[in-house]
Amino acid sequence: MKEELDETKKIFEEIKEYSIYELKIYECKYKNVTCFLVESGMGKVNAARITQILIDKMNVDIILNVGVAGSISRNINKCDIVIGEKLVQHDFDLTLLNFEKGLIPNVGKYIDCDQELINIAKIIKMETKVTSGIISSGDIFVSEEKMGEKINKKFGALCVEMEGASIAQVCHLCNIPFLVIRAISDSPYEKDNHLTFKEFLKISSDMVSRFVEQFLGKI
Ligand code: ADE
Repeated sequence: MKEELDETKKIFEEIKEYSIYELKIYECKYKNVTCFLVESGMGKVNAARITQILIDKMNVDIILNVGVAGSISRNINKCDIVIGEKLVQHDFDLTLLNFEKGLIPNVGKYIDCDQELINIAKIIKMETKVTSGIISSGDIFVSEEKMGEKINKKFGALCVEMEGASIAQVCHLCNIPFLVIRAISDSPYEKDNHLTFKEFLKISSDMVSRFVEQFLGKI
């Protein structure tokens, strides 16, 4: 979302702007790392599309997916950071065809983030808690406690968002190392989390951007 990208842009000083298929891509440098920032738009299709564009047109070495997420772990609170170790799609369902829920034929159920990138991220200290684990994605804003609990139980996921696993899938298929890093904006275990989401979108985006700044200083 624009709010998420705006916070990340603040890390960088010089920014060049490109347009591809009416998507704005910002080229910027952090020390000796060249980055291309882009707002993917919400949901798995938008995110998969921009991932393929970044791989094909910008020749990127790695992909970082950064943004906010809803906590489905009772121990993870607003503004805490979750480093993705594995990504899964909780809305991918071929159970009637005898596949396990979340399993994508020829791809798998869980897709691993790059271990080297995870190790770098795990060194970073923040004023809030930093945890690593499974992140689950689906084309739905999760607002029901029951749904959150089900995803937590079924997939072992710590948080939910709407893009990471599709980015993981494209990176996996193209052999590109990737990492997903999210800051918690809300939880379906709280009443009216769509309102909490709006309230915390900027604050949590700032938190994860400061995490990314430290991360870029270490790669
Ligand atoms: N991103 C942030 N909060 C979310 C939620 N509750 N469900 C899905 N994606 C989210």
